[in-house]
Amino acid sequence: MTYLVTDNCIQCKHTDCVAVCPVDCFYEADNFLAIQPDECIDCGVCEAECPVGAIVPDNALEFEEREKWDAINRKVSEWGINITEEKDPMPDHETWADVPNKYEELGIIPIKVIE
Ligand code: SF4
Ligand code: F3S
Repeated sequence: MTYLVTDNCIQCKHTDCVAVCPVDCFYEADNFLAIQPDECIDCGVCEAECPVGAIVPDNALEFEEREKWDAINRKVSEWGINITEEKDPMPDHETWADVPNKYEELGIIPIKVIE
């Protein structure tokens, strides 16, 4: 089991999660954060910190969603841009906060540029 970052993080990136992770296993894309599943020790403390509920235990997801978000979290982690300190959320996070299925609209895999 691992925890995974899911759709609600996209275009929001509050980053409260990184401040509490004891093993620093969050990685960053330009509009999304990911957890490296093999580094995550399943402590669960980040789940409650995310103000938009983007972090879930993988066993809470249906099979297809679990496979999808596991692959996305691994892919973003492979880019190797580790983030360990909080920063401001994305400027238009309020606009995107309640938008469902952002992944379907925006995608994540092609996006990795960090300013
Ligand atoms: Fe880090 Fe714990 Fe969250 Fe895993 S569950 S990403 S180890 S804070
Ligand atoms: Fe994303 Fe929530 Fe962390 S919006 S950056 S998973 S605090």
